Amino acid sequence: MKDDAYKTLNVLGCVPGLLNVLFELAHEAQRIRRFNILLNVPVEIALENAGLDEWDVAKIHVYECEDGVPENGLFAFSVVGVKSKEIVYNYFNERFGLHKSQFLNLIHPTAYVSRSADLDYGLQVEPLSLVSSRTTLGFGVTIKRGCNVGHHCCIGRFVTLNPGVTVCGYVTVGDQTMIGAGAVVRDGVKIGCHTVIGAGSVVVDDIPDHVVAFGNPCRPQKVIKIH
Ligand SMILES: CC(C)(COP(=O)(O)OP(=O)(O)OC[C@H]1O[C@@H](n2cnc3c(N)ncnc32)[C@H](O)[C@@H]1OP(=O)(O)O)[C@@H](O)C(=O)NCCC(=O)NCCS
Repeated sequence: MKDDAYKTLNVLGCVPGLLNVLFELAHEAQRIRRFNILLNVPVEIALENAGLDEWDVAKIHVYECEDGVPENGLFAFSVVGVKSKEIVYNYFNERFGLHKSQFLNLIHPTAYVSRSADLDYGLQVEPLSLVSSRTTLGFGVTIKRGCNVGHHCCIGRFVTLNPGVTVCGYVTVGDQTMIGAGAVVRDGVKIGCHTVIGAGSVVVDDIPDHVVAFGNPCRPQKVIKIH
């Protein structure tokens, strides 16, 4: 498609650190230079919470989505946190019928994703990351720079792998789980949903749902309460 639709990306949420990376990724992966930022909260709250005034907002159209979202637009996430992506997606999906197929896969040209990998929508794969054969990436997965994801893994919806994570083969990571920078997950391990794995952890045994776990060997340290 050569019209302008391809050149404007509608970004849900506005976490400044992530926006910066996302703009660069979108440009290098898809040559996108223009961005709308769509908020599910009033602009003032977003400004206060996310420090949006640090940004050169003159170049970016920021608005609350009272009247809807652009039709046939392309979308991406700029939110962080174990639950945030799903909350933001559900808001736009329920209110405006935004479908996951409208979310672009942003895969940096220096990343390698196997042709046999099974990819959902809304993926962000940052520079120098690898995704090996027969691995499944669920909707809204973010793989930050320098990660290595082995073969036959199953990475659930809205999972975030922070920089330098190594996931060996046949690993399962549940929905909305976050794995901290530099962690290593041994082959065959199953990590639950809504769980946080601390930076630098070495995960050699299965980890349940809804816990914060860290260390070498990685062990659950506390429970994440569900509201
Ligand atoms: C695991 C994590 C979520 C825990 O955060 P927290 O609940 O705020 O924990 P605290 O910082 O209060 O630390 C509590 C204790 O756990 C220890 N601890 C925290 N994270 C640890 C880790 N990753 N490995 C080993 N020990 C850790 C602390 O040293 C502290 O020990 P102490 O009680 O003996 O002093 C966090 O430390 C972490 O690793 N986050 C991931 C960071 C990351 O990857 N960011 C991405 C950047 S791009």
